[in-house]
Amino acid sequence: PVQNEQNLRSPICCIMGHVDTGKTKLLGCIRGTNVQEGEAGGITQQIGATYFPAENIRERTKELKADAKLNVPGLLVIDTPGHESFTNLRSRGSGLCDLAILVVDIMHGLEPQTIESLNLLKMRNTDFLIALNKVDRLYGWKSCRNAPIGKAIRQQSKDVMIEFNMRLTQIITQFKEQGLNTELYYKNKEMGETYNIVPTSAISGEGVPDLLLLLVQWAQKTMIKRLTYSEEVQCTVLEVKVVEGHGTTIDVVLVNGVLHEGDQIVVCGMQGPVVTSIRALLTPHPMRELRVKGTYLHHKEIKAAQGIKIAAQVPVQWKKTETTKIPITLQHMRKK
Ligand code: GTP
Ligand code: MG
Ligand code: NA
Repeated sequence: PVQNEQNLRSPICCIMGHVDTGKTKLLGCIRGTNVQEGEAGGITQQIGATYFPAENIRERTKELKADAKLNVPGLLVIDTPGHESFTNLRSRGSGLCDLAILVVDIMHGLEPQTIESLNLLKMRNTDFLIALNKVDRLYGWKSCRNAPIGKAIRQQSKDVMIEFNMRLTQIITQFKEQGLNTELYYKNKEMGETYNIVPTSAISGEGVPDLLLLLVQWAQKTMIKRLTYSEEVQCTVLEVKVVEGHGTTIDVVLVNGVLHEGDQIVVCGMQGPVVTSIRALLTPHPMRELRVKGTYLHHKEIKAAQGIKIAAQVPVQWKKTETTKIPITLQHMRKK
């Protein structure tokens, strides 16, 4: 069990970026499974949520820093689609999170939805770091499975490093054109003013330990107040759907507070608010994706932050409501 003296909730981190930069693959790499291959046309079409317990983060980062202090219970990662038609979902994802990862393909540099994502993050004043993904595609890259990026880079030939530095310099220039200073995180002397770049490969895992550790350490260092656990429920609805064996379910992200089985909730639909109660509180297994069909764990109560499937009675027409139009707020009354 993780020490949590400060009573912090798990930070919520949103992954954003242009289509096919490897957002879903990066998440798959962290968890060690492959959601991306189960997607229609390999395109993400819905917001996802995956919870990574601190124990797993420790395991993935121990080669980088064995004695890292993790003060948060875990990390909730929100996956968003990069396809241009899903601006609304990117906007919702970025509205939910405490911090974000902006994924850029090192072979492509900044692309239209990279810039759109960047503007969403700027607009909400959300801090983020940049994953410069697909480094394994540099010509002659020597794979160094799941290694910290520094170690992986030391194994590369001079030619690989020339290409890496050339592409990196171009991308830093492109960010500058967007009004942002960026730098490799291990060379960054002005954290907070200059945005951090972490080179990664979602295929062979280089840089993934760095990405995880930087995220968690940064969140617990700069967001103590924001991450302090509160009693007041803050919860956003992602989707309403029917799940075999569970009836109507509401997928939500619990941002703060705690939900209990039996609690009364008010979900604000398009035809006005609906009062209902939580019949079952379900989550996927740790490190599994909420939007992917699977088996669920039952809970008597759940503390934020978490991606949760709530089984509850809601009006029939909600089941057919498209994602873009579903009600998005959920209020809560504690059962007596
Ligand atoms: P959308 O959600 O549809 O916007 O895409 P995404 O950003 O989630 O990208 P996804 O994870 O679906 O990956 C797109 C393609 O790039 C897939 O074929 C992945 O296998 C491939 N890919 C992702 N990351 C890497 C990487 O680090 N290296 C290489 N070589 N391929 C990668
Ligand atoms: Mg995806
Ligand atoms: Na994709």
